[in-house]
Amino acid sequence: MDAVVNPLYAKYSAMDLQAVAGDKQAMEMGKRLYMTYCMQCHGADARGAKGFPNLTDGDWLYGGEPAQIEQTIADGRMGVMPAHAQLGADTIKDLANYVRSLSGLPNDSVRAAKGKEAFASAGCSGCHGPDGKGMTAIGAPNLTDNVWLYGSSENTIIETITNGRQNKMPAWKEFLVNRRFICWQPTCSALARAPSNQCNGAGNRPVFPSWNISII
Ligand code: HEC
Ligand code: HEC
Repeated sequence: MDAVVNPLYAKYSAMDLQAVAGDKQAMEMGKRLYMTYCMQCHGADARGAKGFPNLTDGDWLYGGEPAQIEQTIADGRMGVMPAHAQLGADTIKDLANYVRSLSGLPNDSVRAAKGKEAFASAGCSGCHGPDGKGMTAIGAPNLTDNVWLYGSSENTIIETITNGRQNKMPAWKEFLVNRRFICWQPTCSALARAPSNQCNGAGNRPVFPSWNISII
């Protein structure tokens, strides 16, 4: 088997990422590898599940540039949201309402206003940014885009803030020796089809750059 695939890996390693992206055979290999090593967590359609990010939506915890995705897959990632139970139930509820308001979800505006102050004073902004738009360096999610790793209900957000969250993406570079991790840009493929509201009139190309994933 190695005699067959090694020359292919060597060929793709020498190629520009965009060129690999246009190579049908490379995409087939990537898809097979995805179905072997990745789908159990991210899903056969790569849309993820609670705690497992959707890889098809153009929203990236750790960044969607090819080098960032390559690093995610090769080295793994560890997302840590600290527990904030010490803030007390009332302030946490204010914060949850503020977080919901950032995505335009129904909220108690009096609580949201108090939550906005707490967001700065309790240090949330240190990781999620002063405007809540997140920080890819540490995988702090954008809280303003209505894309949720754990869920948007007031109760789920309260649980996230109170108890914190820890999440691990395994590292693959030791395991998939000789494989070069790559990602390729867009048209919505069978593997990673963007939701229709993210596609233009032609129906199959995301409006914003969304990177599909392959591993070679
Ligand atoms: C055991 C479960 C598991 C497996 C298997 C797994 N992942 Fe992940 N992956 C995760 C989790 C959990 C995260 C989110 C980590 C976090 O929240 O910090 C993640 C994050 C990612 C991200 C970052 C997404 C973003 O928004 O920035 C990418 C890309 C990714 N995985 C690709 C892959 C690929 C490709 C494979 C197969 C080689 C794979 N994953 C296999 C659990 C898994
Ligand atoms: C030390 C950095 C850090 C601080 C401080 C922090 N967060 Fe987070 N937060 C994260 C990370 C990282 C994640 C993603 C965890 C994961 O990957 O499982 C997260 C996740 C979340 C989520 C879940 C989002 C989703 O998509 O489901 C919410 C809500 C949230 N944080 C709100 C807050 C609020 C409110 C505060 C202030 C009380 C806060 N965070 C403080 C780093 C931080």
